[in-house]
Amino acid sequence: MALLGVNIDHVATVRQARRTDEPDPVWAAVEAELGGADGITFHLREDRRHINDRDARLLRETVAVKLNMEMAIADDIVGIAAGLKPHQCTLVPERREELTTEGGLDVLRLKARIAKAVTRLRDAGITLSAFIEPIREQIEASAEVGFHAVELWTGAYAHAKTPPERKAALDDLRKGIETGRRVGLEVHGGHGLTYRNIAPVAALPGFGEFNIGHSIVSRAVFVGMREAVREMKRLLTVHAPPSGPE
Ligand code: PXP
Repeated sequence: MALLGVNIDHVATVRQARRTDEPDPVWAAVEAELGGADGITFHLREDRRHINDRDARLLRETVAVKLNMEMAIADDIVGIAAGLKPHQCTLVPERREELTTEGGLDVLRLKARIAKAVTRLRDAGITLSAFIEPIREQIEASAEVGFHAVELWTGAYAHAKTPPERKAALDDLRKGIETGRRVGLEVHGGHGLTYRNIAPVAALPGFGEFNIGHSIVSRAVFVGMREAVREMKRLLTVHAPPSGPE
């Protein structure tokens, strides 16, 4: 069954709405762990709009499960990550005007720059994942550059407006998983996944990890972080593909 990485960025978004000290994303990470999270994910953006350097440092000191840092390939952020040494770094595209990460990293086009960041972070002992669209060439390029894993962008599925669009997006994810496994990568999924739309994605064989943020934090507002995480874990369990040789 795929592991659940809980992205706690939007707890920090609420804090930053008042530039105060609550709610604390580090506290949210503890609550998420107590609810059964297999990992904690955070995105230290260049503009520090939610998670800041203090959060990153404290998360590194306190999180007991897998810590996954989403990040751009900017030199200063790569330097921070190399010093922080989270278990995993997920390289993502980052534009200042976007609401959230939109689409995947263009590994094909940015190959040389990405390779430099990957080498530096791999040398620091960090597992590397590329957040990309489920496109064969991007997946193959990610393997060539030295990533250990790819996180397939599930946004096309999440944003699909009609059943045929949704089916096409799921087919792309299924093929993406196959390609990733064929070239020796671990395959993760994330973006736009919710309690309502997770079932068909959770049922695809081959996903090793999902990173889910906005929907879990939204539910946590009403039921608390522990319960929100427990409910998502339950859905991943109920809808997991049958175990056994794939
Ligand atoms: N995975 C990656 C690489 C992301 O950038 C994000 C958004 O920060 C997520 C997963 C989580 O997306 P969502 O908040 O839509 O669940």
